[in-house]
Amino acid sequence: MFPTETVYGLGGDARSDRSVAHIFAAKNRPSFNPLIVHILNLEAAEEFGFFNETARSLAQYFWPGPLTLVVPRKKEANLSLLAVAGLDTVALRVPSHPIAQALLKAFDNPIVAPSANKSGYISPTEPWHVEASLGKEAPFVIDGGRTYRGLESTILQVMDEDVILLRHGALSQEEVEEFLGKKLKTHSSGDINAPGQLTSHYSPRLPLRLNVLDPQPGEAFIAFGQMDHRAILNLSVESNLQEAAANLFSFLHSLDHPDLYTGIAVAPIPKVGIGVAINDRLQRAAAPK
Ligand code: TXA
Ligand code: MG
Repeated sequence: MFPTETVYGLGGDARSDRSVAHIFAAKNRPSFNPLIVHILNLEAAEEFGFFNETARSLAQYFWPGPLTLVVPRKKEANLSLLAVAGLDTVALRVPSHPIAQALLKAFDNPIVAPSANKSGYISPTEPWHVEASLGKEAPFVIDGGRTYRGLESTILQVMDEDVILLRHGALSQEEVEEFLGKKLKTHSSGDINAPGQLTSHYSPRLPLRLNVLDPQPGEAFIAFGQMDHRAILNLSVESNLQEAAANLFSFLHSLDHPDLYTGIAVAPIPKVGIGVAINDRLQRAAAPK
């Protein structure tokens, strides 16, 4: 378990079926859900995937950072087929966190790393979240404190000239569109291209109510901006969405106590910039399981 700038990852050798099988088992993760392969730089990424001009320019501009690129997979490369769920594509990411970078340098090989939580539960942004979710399955956690982005990487699939947004994340849609000079495609078909996009995901144990201005007695209320004195926690008093993103999973972890509260209520979060990804996570967390 190691920190990245987004969330803590449960790392393993991307070439080893045995290591990957351990990860799937520890998380209770369905084996059809492929893992992200972490590498040190674009050069290393090109050993595993085909980068066209668009993919390369995205990588050059946004790596290292919270962007995952899904590109056609190089079949001859030495990657565990279990890790990529047998797909013709591979998800690649160069994390910017100094500990993740140091680990990749020391290991000198690709590392698969899903978020270090049980499948379907809130992603970990602090070491104790990992222990609380994975328990004995997390014997070794590298403590890098709280992660500073707080939401998983944004996932883009590059297919010929098209760039498709598979998962909202720490890099906002606007930032990517501004760089590309065009709108991203999003998936409207019923296909689940990134299984992390299942409706119910990132869920706390307590029921979650969204867009709440008036919390009920017993509910733990998470505010945003200058608002309610009844709030237990405030995602950002200054209405800073980046700060809110970094706080979100931490707050959900801290308040997820069915013995103390009847539910968690969250104030409205503006749907702009990184706020879109925050709303995406909240909606999935609130979806019926
Ligand atoms: O920020 C992050 O991306 C974190 C840190 C640890 O790097 N990792 C992370 O991994 O969020 P995970 O396993 O929780 O989410 C990976 C997502 C899943 O939704 C998976 O379906 C998708 O990436 N994915 C992986 N390979 C894919 C592929 N070839 N095509 C489409 N989606 C893919
Ligand atoms: Mg995850």
